[in-house]
Amino acid sequence: MKIAVFSTKSYDQEYFEKYNDTNNYNFSFFETALNKDTANLTIGFQVVCVFVNDNVDKDTIEILSKNGVELIALRCAGFNNIDIETAKAKNIKVVRVPAYSPEAVAEHALALILTLNRKTHKAYNRVREGNFSLKNLIGFNVHGKTVGVIGTGQIGETFCRIIKGFGCRIIAFDISKSQELIDLGVTYLTLDEVFQQSDILSLHCPLNKHTKHMVNERSIALMKKGIMIINTSRGALINTVDVIKGLSNKKIGYLGIDVYEQEENLFYEDLSERIIQDELILRLNGFPNVLITSHQAYFTKEAMEEITTTTLENIKAFENKLELENEVR
Ligand code: NAI
Repeated sequence: MKIAVFSTKSYDQEYFEKYNDTNNYNFSFFETALNKDTANLTIGFQVVCVFVNDNVDKDTIEILSKNGVELIALRCAGFNNIDIETAKAKNIKVVRVPAYSPEAVAEHALALILTLNRKTHKAYNRVREGNFSLKNLIGFNVHGKTVGVIGTGQIGETFCRIIKGFGCRIIAFDISKSQELIDLGVTYLTLDEVFQQSDILSLHCPLNKHTKHMVNERSIALMKKGIMIINTSRGALINTVDVIKGLSNKKIGYLGIDVYEQEENLFYEDLSERIIQDELILRLNGFPNVLITSHQAYFTKEAMEEITTTTLENIKAFENKLELENEVR
């Protein structure tokens, strides 16, 4: 079986080669992202393997279909970048890795909270340069704060369990409630109540037409002054222009993001010698109370192992015409 892997970095290739020994699949690794301009690279491949910033829209899927592709294997959980309807219409199956390590993402959300709050990234640089001053490094106790969690699926639930250990009051909104979290002491409220009461707000719901730009001018107006907003889910949950306004007028006290709406043009690349044209990311980077990481929340050894082995199992099930446990329908 010939498999075209898009958006490949050295670590993806390393993991696929490590775990491919029993299957002997014929992988071709492309550094480029999959989109309508690169889709012709898939001639002769039955399977394409894609990641978060490949743009598998209607036009792309039509080319994949013409080229004989039968399976799109996502090596991630979110599938907002795939036109599922068109794939279905073209009889191309879509599989994903539904859960590879909720701990990896939840722990990164925590890393963003603690770094933004206690400014360890700034302290590190200061001390290395012989500056031992504490000026402007003051933080707050996370203990006792109200933490709002939007989306209490696998990652949101793991995050709740971690932040519970800090002695926080946890409030949440989800379209379906988890009894286990209620038993843990999490209080489900309406979405607006979560916006109103949170000192720290962490987003863990998928991106879809209901959640797109949920953090916007209206919801920011409801929030407490000085709120910390953390987004490790998908960039477009946040209206970046509105958040920049909220940061400028000091309504938002801190912003920690691992995802960004226009990230496909930036993330995972070394652009340090280029002139970055994205005005919004440049503006965000100019705030002292904003911390941006490049969609790395998933990036742990455990998660990479799970991603690779589950992707290979998904492809194997397809090859053997077995039921596709991880099919996106
Ligand atoms: P999940 O499917 O286990 O949980 C999602 C939760 O969101 C569910 O409980 C669902 O009921 C809830 N939800 C759905 N619509 C909602 C709405 N309108 N409002 C509030 N809640 C809603 O997914 P999981 O594994 O927890 O992942 C969550 C998201 O995290 C993924 O969709 C993905 O976008 C993101 N992610 C980010 C990664 C990173 O590296 N930064 C890595 C993996 C996932």
